[in-house]
Amino acid sequence: MQAIGSAPGKIILLGEHFVVRGVPAISLSINLRAWAEVKLVDVNPNNGVSVVLSDLFGETYKCVNGGWGTPYCRVLDTLGVMRGVEAKIFSRIPPEAGLGSSTATSLALAGAACVLCKGSLDIELVMKASLEADRIFHGKPSGVDTMTSLLGGFILFRSIKNVEKIGEGAPDLRIIVVDTGIPKKTSKAVMKVLSLYERRKHIMDRVYEAAKALVEDAVNAIKHRDYVTLGELMLLNQGLLNTIGVSFPEAENIIATAMNTGALGAKITGAGLGGSVIVLAEGNKINNIVSSIKEKHRIRNYYVVSPDPQGLVVKTEKDSKRRLA
Ligand code: PMV
Repeated sequence: MQAIGSAPGKIILLGEHFVVRGVPAISLSINLRAWAEVKLVDVNPNNGVSVVLSDLFGETYKCVNGGWGTPYCRVLDTLGVMRGVEAKIFSRIPPEAGLGSSTATSLALAGAACVLCKGSLDIELVMKASLEADRIFHGKPSGVDTMTSLLGGFILFRSIKNVEKIGEGAPDLRIIVVDTGIPKKTSKAVMKVLSLYERRKHIMDRVYEAAKALVEDAVNAIKHRDYVTLGELMLLNQGLLNTIGVSFPEAENIIATAMNTGALGAKITGAGLGGSVIVLAEGNKINNIVSSIKEKHRIRNYYVVSPDPQGLVVKTEKDSKRRLA
């Protein structure tokens, strides 16, 4: 018996950090995906202990004793599948680039293991399992990664229990993700912003209000496929992220180059203090923008991505037999 789960990576388009204090955020699933191939085995070489092999960090996790504290074993533990599972994870989402690779891999694993072991996709349980893994990966996640990868498309995220899909994304929409190579510091950045909020509440409340207003305008822009407005709102959002202290010089310089070469908008994505910059651009401007960024800045890598409307998908052997018939 075998099932294959697949889930997309994500970018946060607007509202990171502000979302931690209840402002909505907008995120988007992208066409870089992760897969988990899960098998049930009666007798395996590990005496029945569940094993997960992941190409994300090139590691094998044995879910025994200390192993239960690792993210993928925590997924299986939450599903109640302590024994008899063999899983292989493959990912096209680069790790540690702010693109949701850890969430997508654990969600793909949770989905496939759930279908195989429980007989159907229990969305609540799969969500819970993925969030448990994210807690190990990230500490205190808002859940925006899990919900975006689970549902796919443009997501308006208010809280785990209040999520709305606001669009599938246009096939012509392209986003350049520029990985600066500077490690992102999620918990440090979150603590920095929360501490600033506590010290300057009366000023920060106004910044949070501005963040909320621009997310509201962005919802309309996305619904009307108005990407010029969306780009402008991304730049405004970047201004606010700079104000709250999570931007960094390399990102500011890349954003300036992108805007000077015809981008519609650009900003950091995710926690900041490192990580990736996202650039919204029309298809015919992509090559120019990428060349000038590569020429002027030292970057680790870049990816041109487009929206992937599909969230978590699980297929079993039965599904493929049905399709062949
Ligand atoms: O850097 P990422 O992609 O893990 O995103 C973090 C987003 C924050 O808003 C800063 C924190 C959160 O959990 O929402």
